[in-house]
This record gives sequence, structure tokens and C-alpha cells, in this order.
Amino acid sequence: MGKFGSGDTKWFVRDRFGMFIHWGLYSMPARHEWVRHHEKITTEDYQKYFDHFNPDLFNPKEWAKAAREAGMRYFVITTKHHEGFCMWDTKYTDYKITNTPCGRDLLREVVDAFRAEGIHVGFYYSLIDWHHPDFIIDNRIGPYRELPEEERKKMNEGRDMKRYAQYMRNQVRELLTEYGKIDILWFDFSYPAPDGDPEHGKGHKDWESEELVKMIRSIQPDIILDNRLDLPEEGDIHTPEQYTPSEGLTDKDGNPIVWEGCQTFSGSWGYHRDEQTWKSPKQCIDLLIDHVSRGGNLLMNVGPTSRGYLDRRAMDCLKAYADWMHYNKRSIYNCGPAPREFQPPLDGRYTYNRETNTLYLHLMNWPFKHVHLPGLAGKVAYAQLLHDGSEVKILPPPEAPSHVTAKSPAQAETLLLPVNKPDVEVPVIELFLK
Ligand code: GLC
Repeated sequence: MGKFGSGDTKWFVRDRFGMFIHWGLYSMPARHEWVRHHEKITTEDYQKYFDHFNPDLFNPKEWAKAAREAGMRYFVITTKHHEGFCMWDTKYTDYKITNTPCGRDLLREVVDAFRAEGIHVGFYYSLIDWHHPDFIIDNRIGPYRELPEEERKKMNEGRDMKRYAQYMRNQVRELLTEYGKIDILWFDFSYPAPDGDPEHGKGHKDWESEELVKMIRSIQPDIILDNRLDLPEEGDIHTPEQYTPSEGLTDKDGNPIVWEGCQTFSGSWGYHRDEQTWKSPKQCIDLLIDHVSRGGNLLMNVGPTSRGYLDRRAMDCLKAYADWMHYNKRSIYNCGPAPREFQPPLDGRYTYNRETNTLYLHLMNWPFKHVHLPGLAGKVAYAQLLHDGSEVKILPPPEAPSHVTAKSPAQAETLLLPVNKPDVEVPVIELFLK
């Protein structure tokens, strides 16, 4: 079996920041990509979205430009989500974009546009498929999960998960042979049945994950695989979702592992017109800093409208990243957690570039006049505010506590800060270490 963990993550841990794109028929109801599950919409009642899908304002060059300007250096797009609708001209089903009024292989147009911006290409592929005639209906997820058992069994007559697993291998082969070099393959997700019955959940046996990985590795051996195929060896990357770990992730032996948090701008992955929990610019930027300072990547999601464009709320969030990354990307790219001996000050986050031996202090709240850096006494050659390159003075340790000063923490370096917070969402101090 193709070994997990053999994907090329060197570029991945350098580039740090990607765009997740959730786009499919669910952008038409515009009530979350799980709308079929939440509202128990039958296949027949869902057909109207297929019959009317026509993203006439689609321009992937605009998406790719916004991603690049936001500092996103890779993207992962849903080729097929749980609804089973395929965003490319696959040979293996008629439930595909080229059979809708759209009539075009939009996946190819997206890949071409993002590649033209120098952005790495990732494909999300749902293991779950609420449309496919061989996918066994279960009592855990999907529009038919609450059917009485006898009705569910009747619907499952003739369905064959081995045929479905072959269907997935055929489609994944298409995706890996017809769209050039694919850097990431992002599967979603396994929910194994305690009793192994596919009517009660699905895991590696149902997906035939081992054979799937073997095929993938035989076609694109360097591709990065995520960890949702229900295989004992975790994937090349761990993928906490809508959750920021308190520190970097490690394996059972305590060694750091490659991980990527995926998060949404709002509470939905797919376009959701009425969902209001959109993150502020500061929350978006804090997320990126929190992930990189803990050795992770951030995959931030957009959900295009069914007309094919990113709505203003998404564009405003991307602009917030663009404004901040334009001046501060040096503290993100090729950076990771600081050496353990450097503990950041309160409300501070460190990232560290090992190659340049440069520490970056992200001040999530602006302190008044001074910031003390434990363990850094005598170790900082020069300090500057990253966004404008203006010097930040390093104060000599006070001779002795007096009526106007106090001893700073032992072995700390103290920096003198402007009283007013600089005009940047999260100010960063670049510390050139000796
Ligand atoms: C969850 C959601 C799914 C989404 C995925 C992204 O699995 O159920 O809709 O695509 O998260 O990580």
C-alpha cells in the first residue's frame, strides 16, 4: 500500500496559508452545504438545483487574484461534496456540471486560473455521496438517516459499496491524471460503524482506503494526503477543523507533526446567505498568527455564490488579509514556532524563521510603552516594527529599581514602544537575533 506520510510537505510548511473553496449545487439553496442533511431533501426535490445551476458571473481569475493578494499560496476546492455533484467533466456519472445549464468543466478553469497565479493546487473529494446509487444509505448522516429501518433496507437493495469504492477510484484517477500536478488531495470524511455495518457508518473498509491510497501514490507519489480515510497511519497532514489547538500537534512520541487548521469566515463552508457569524478582520488575522505560531497552516474557506462570484463579505475578509500580509508576510512564510526557551509576553505570539534566525513578536493587544521579552536579554541585535521598518528601541536593564522603574523579569529584554498602537491590525516586531 502506498505509504501515508510520503507526501511532499516541504513547500506546504513554508507557504503556511491557503484558500479552501466550497462550491456546488448547495450554493443555490444558500443554506449550508449540508442542506440536504439538515432539511432531509430527497434526491428528487434536490434536482431543481441541478436543473438551474448556471454561474453566469463566474470568473476564476478574480478568485485567484484575491487569493494571491491575501497571501494564500495554495488552494483546495471541492471537486465533489457530500451531495455527490461533480464539478468536472467526469466520465463516470451524469451528475456533473457539464450536464447543467452551466455546461462547462469549471474545475479546469479554476485550476488554470490559480496555477497562473503560482498557487499550489488542491482537490477536496468527498468519500460520502448522498446521490450515488451504490452508496449505502445509513442511519448516521444524510437526508435519509431517519428512515424506518425496513424502508432504509428497501432503499439499499441492489446498492453495492464495492462498486462505489471502484467509482471513487475511477474518479480520483481522473482528477490525478487530467488536471496536471495536484499538490494536495483532501478527503472528507470517515465515520466508521462500531459493528462494521455500512448502514451504521463507513470507514476504510467501505472506502477501500488502502487500495485508494496505493493507486494515488502510484500516480502522484508526492501528493499530500489528509488524515480522514480512517487508516491507522495518519495522513501527511492532520486537519483540525473550526478548532485552534492550544499548541503544536505531535505524534505519540511527542514529535511535531504537520498540521493544517481549516476554518470558515462565517459559520458555513458553502455559501450561506443569512448566516451572520462572520469573523472580524482581527479575528481572521489572529487565526493565521495562532496557527503559524503553533507550527500549523491555516486553510481559510470561501463559499462562492451560485452566480459564481465571492460576495462582499468574503472579499472584505480577504482584503483584511491582503492589507496585513502585504507588510507582515515575512512573519508567516517559512516561519513556525519559536524555540521553547523563548516564551512570548502576555498577549504576544512568536513566530520564528530558522533560516534567518529572526523572531517575530505579534502583539495581539497593544501594551502601554513597554514589552518585556523573557529569556531574550542580550540576544536581540536589532528590533523594528515590521509594517514600516521603524526602529523599536531596546532598553538597557535599569541600573536598579528606583521610584520610576522596577526590575524587569530576570533575563528579559525590554522594548520601548510608541504609546499609540500603529495603524496595522496586529502589529509585529521583527527581532533580529544575535
Ligand atoms: C466538515 C463538514 C464538511 C466540510 C468539511 C471541511 O466535514 O461536514 O461539509 O466540507 O468539514 O473540513
